[in-house]
Amino acid sequence: MEVVIVADAAAGGQLIADAVAELITRKPDALFGVATGSTPLPVYEALAAKVAAGELDTSHLKVCQLDEYVGLPADHPESYHAVLKREVLEPLRVPDTNFLGPDGNAEDLPAACAAYEQQLTAAGGVDLQLLGIGTDGHIGFNEPISSLASRTRIKTLTERTRIDNARFFNGLPEVPHHVITQGIGTILQARHLVLLATGHAKAEAVAATIEGPVSSLIPASALQLHPHATVVIDEPAAQQLKLADYYRATYASKPTWQGI
Ligand code: PGA
Repeated sequence: MEVVIVADAAAGGQLIADAVAELITRKPDALFGVATGSTPLPVYEALAAKVAAGELDTSHLKVCQLDEYVGLPADHPESYHAVLKREVLEPLRVPDTNFLGPDGNAEDLPAACAAYEQQLTAAGGVDLQLLGIGTDGHIGFNEPISSLASRTRIKTLTERTRIDNARFFNGLPEVPHHVITQGIGTILQARHLVLLATGHAKAEAVAATIEGPVSSLIPASALQLHPHATVVIDEPAAQQLKLADYYRATYASKPTWQGI
């Protein structure tokens, strides 16, 4: 695992956007796995700036979703499909037809989950998966004690996650209890995992992810099992790390050709 401590969220966004841009330049039809929430927004803003400046051709890029609420109409402004349309597809000028996501309104949800797994495989697998982290250590919507081998399936949100996400809705009662999420086993199949965490509220989960044992209690700790995982954090999110100075020194002396 590589840990990169950046000055602030904007610097983290720029660093990751540069890595995504490098991927798209190398592989124009790459499959980019995106995350929702507040944290990844600086990544999308930095990528959108590159597209607007004519530096990046995203017309062949494929984008896929990490998770989705169950039971929200697809045109609900907070369905993750709608959020990603607004925050990723439109600003990055990715055609709708290049978007992959599970159907949170399917009558047969397990079949929809299995179909999504097949879609990801048929598209060649995820090249770079961007991840946020919940205050409870979740990645995607894999809440604590999710199987580290899990595939795309239905999950029940913890109350803590529902409270964290209530800011996007008109109060807690509106936040769905159920979701579809790529499993931890699914996420681990992506070729490169990049987790971005910013702010003091994430410090405990970040420390457990990087320096704690691999445990389903902290689903993000599964990144320790991946051969190419990068964790980008700002100073407040790095506050509880024991080896922060080592991570800083390692990154500072890294040859620039290596990227992340
Ligand atoms: P946030 O959500 O970026 O809005 O904090 C992260 C997550 O729940 O994965």
